[in-house]
Amino acid sequence: MPLAHSALRTLGQLLLVLLPLSQVEAEALSVERQTQLQHLLAQDCGSCHGLRMTGGLGPALTRQALANKPREALIATVTHGRPGTAMPPWNALLNEPDIAWLVDRLLEGYPTP
Ligand code: HEC
Repeated sequence: MPLAHSALRTLGQLLLVLLPLSQVEAEALSVERQTQLQHLLAQDCGSCHGLRMTGGLGPALTRQALANKPREALIATVTHGRPGTAMPPWNALLNEPDIAWLVDRLLEGYPTP
């Protein structure tokens, strides 16, 4: 069954890609840190992207808007900003697990209805 075999191989490759990334998140953030980040998302990110992430000065960051964007690309944008645009780099304020956590909230859909 070549089809099932190649599907399995694709799944294996996907897991290889996803595992190290999920480990970034697995360095579980404290509840306190999560609360701070949630606040930052609404207040700071929300000031440009809209309180409900439906867009403003910056583009919409809803689950639908981000559906086709690779997680790593979004993490890179938040980390380094987009030079020449209003999107600032956040790496002075946030570490990698923080940024991964924020991007995962956006990919899951934030704010949750
Ligand atoms: C001062 C305004 C401003 C703030 C604050 C801001 N952003 Fe942005 N953001 C932008 C703009 C403008 C863009 C679009 C840049 C471009 O044209 O490529 C952007 C782009 C992005 C993108 C890429 C979206 C895509 O479709 O590729 C992500 C993800 C993002 N911002 C997340 C965040 C997060 C998370 C925060 C808070 C930690 C944040 N932004 C804070 C202005 C802002």
